[in-house]
Amino acid sequence: MISKETIEQVLMRNDIESLIGSYVNLRRAGSNLKGLCPFHSEKTPSFTVYPAENSFYCFGCGVGGDAITFIRKRENLDYPDAVEFLANRAGITIVRDESPGKYAGAPKFDKAKMLKMNVDAAKFFHNQLFSDTPDAKQALSYFTNSRGLSLATIKHFGLGFAPNSFDVFSKYMLSRGYTYDELVAGFLCGRSDRGTYYDAFRNRVMFPIIDVSGNVIAFGGRVMDDSKPKYKNSSDTPVFKKSRNLFALNFARLSCEESLILCEGYMDVIALHSAGFTNAVATLGTAITAEQARMMSRYTKKVIISYDADEAGQKAAMRAIKMLGDVGLDVTILKIPGAKDPDEYIKSNGSDKFKRLLESSKSRFDYNMENILSKYDINVSADKIKASRELVKLISETYSLAERDIYIQIVSKALQLEPKSIKDDVDRAIAARQRTRKKEESQKVKQDAIGYSDRVNRDYIKAPAVAKNEEHVLGLLFYYPEYRKKVFDEALLSADDFFTDLNRRFFVFLEERYKASDDSLYGMNEVFNEEEIGRAMKMKTLRMQLSNSPEILLDSIKTLKAGVKKKNSESANTYEALNELIKDKNVRK
Ligand code: UTP
Ligand code: MN
Repeated sequence: MISKETIEQVLMRNDIESLIGSYVNLRRAGSNLKGLCPFHSEKTPSFTVYPAENSFYCFGCGVGGDAITFIRKRENLDYPDAVEFLANRAGITIVRDESPGKYAGAPKFDKAKMLKMNVDAAKFFHNQLFSDTPDAKQALSYFTNSRGLSLATIKHFGLGFAPNSFDVFSKYMLSRGYTYDELVAGFLCGRSDRGTYYDAFRNRVMFPIIDVSGNVIAFGGRVMDDSKPKYKNSSDTPVFKKSRNLFALNFARLSCEESLILCEGYMDVIALHSAGFTNAVATLGTAITAEQARMMSRYTKKVIISYDADEAGQKAAMRAIKMLGDVGLDVTILKIPGAKDPDEYIKSNGSDKFKRLLESSKSRFDYNMENILSKYDINVSADKIKASRELVKLISETYSLAERDIYIQIVSKALQLEPKSIKDDVDRAIAARQRTRKKEESQKVKQDAIGYSDRVNRDYIKAPAVAKNEEHVLGLLFYYPEYRKKVFDEALLSADDFFTDLNRRFFVFLEERYKASDDSLYGMNEVFNEEEIGRAMKMKTLRMQLSNSPEILLDSIKTLKAGVKKKNSESANTYEALNELIKDKNVRK
C-alpha cells in the first residue's frame, strides 16, 4: 500500500495539463483542453482535460480519470507502478512495500532481498554446470557440443544448470537464509496442494534474465531433449515483469545506438552475441508488447526484426513491425533463407553472411511486396489482378501521403500499370475502409445507448432506465462533495437503493471515503479497474456540463428509490407468477 500522503504529493507535483500535454497535443477550449484521444483513433478531438478537476475524459471511448489512471493506461502499468512512475517524473522518492494484495497470503517482500536471492540462485545454477556429476557434465556438453557455445559465452551470459532434484536447490537456498515463502514469491519454488515445496526448475539448462541495471530478475530454463514444455520461464514477481524486459538488453544497450536486432529466442540472441552482433535482444517467451516497443525506442532508432522463418515467426514479425512502427521506430525485417532461425543460420553460414543478410533487411512495404510478387506470375492476367489487389491494399495501409506516392510508382512499374489507376484504386480502398469504420462506430454508439455490450456495468441492460438514473445521482455525488455530505449525513440513500452492482460499489466507495473524511477520489485507483474509473468519470463529466441544484439531486434520488422498488416488485411478481404456474401445473397433474 502506498500512503495517502505520498499519493497526494505525487498528484500535486504532476500537473495534469503538462503531464498529458507531453503525450497528447492539447488545444485550449475554454477553461479545458482538448486533443485527439491517445486511446482510440479519432479525427476530431473528443479527449478533454479538466485542469480544475485534475481529470480527463474521452467522450469517444469513455476512458477517463486522474493522472494516475492516465499513466496506468498510457504506460500500461499497474497502479503502484504508475504511482512510482509519476513520483520519478516529479523527483519524489517513494518507499513502497511490494503490493501484498497481488500475492495473496504472501508476506511483504523486500525487493533488495529478492534480487540478492536471484543472484545467489544464478550463482548456484552456474556453479552446478561445472560440478562433477554425470548430470552436470551432460548439461555442460549440451551447451558446448550440442549448441556450440564457448566457455566464454557461457560465462558471459551466466548460463547454468538446475539439477534433476526436487529439493537440492531449495535446501541450498534455505541454508543461505532464504525462506520458502521468499522462494515461492520469486518463482524459484512451487508449493503443492499438500503444502510441500519443490524446486521450480529441475533438470533444465538455465538462462538468467538480467535487467539494464544488472540485476538478475528472472530465469528461463530449457529441457535438453525434445520433451515439453521446452522452456519454463519465471512468472511475474515483485521484481520482474515479462512485458517490460528484454533478454540481453543489459549488453545490447551498449552497442545499439544504430539499431537493435529483435529475435524470438534466447538461443538466437546468444548465438548472435557470440558472433559479434551484440545488439541483439529477445522478448521473454511472449509476443512483443507496447511497453517493450517504447523501451526499445528509448535505446535506438532502428529495429531489425529477425524472427524464425516459419509461418508463426513471420506472422509474429508482422505484428511486431506494427508495434515498433507505432512508437516511431524505423523497422526492417529479415528473411532468413534456408534455416529455421538466426541461430541455425549463423551456425551453417557464418557471421559474414549474416551481416550481409542484415544489410539486405527490408522495410515492411518491400518485404510484403516481395512476398506478394513471388506468389503470382504477373504475365498471367488473373494473377496480375490478384497481385494488384493485394498491393493496393498494402499501399492503402500506409499513412504518409509521400510514402504512398512512392509505393504507387514502384508498384505501377512492377505491374506495368498506369500509376493513375493504382492511385485511384488506393483512394477507393481507403474510402471504403473509412466507411466501414464509420458504420462500426455508429453501430457501437447505438448499442451503447441502449445498454447492449456494456461490459463495464453488466447489469445495465437489465434495467437501463434505473441504471441511467443511478448514474445521474452518482454523477452529482462524484462532482459535488457537498452533495455527498447531504446524502450521507441525512442518510438519504443506502447501498440497497442501487440495482446495478457496479453503481452500488461506487456508492459504497463514496460512502466509505466520506466516513473517513476524505474528499478526494483518487483512492478509486485501488478499488476499481480502468474501465470502471472511466465510467465514473463519464458520470462526473456529464454532470459538470449540466446545471445542477439540490432539487435535481433530491428528485433523482426519489426516482431512484421508486425505480428500485418497481424493479424489485417486478421480479417478485415474476416469481409469484412462476409459482402460480407451477402450482397450476401440479394441480392439473
Ligand atoms: P524457440 O522455440 O524458437 O526457442 O522459442 P529457441 O530460443 O530458438 O531455442 P532452441 O533453439 O530451440 O533451443 C523462442 C522463445 O520462445 C519462448 C522462449 O523465450 C524461447 O527462447 N518459449 C519457447 C517459451 O517460453 N516456452 C516454450 O516452451 C517455447
Ligand atoms: Mn532456435
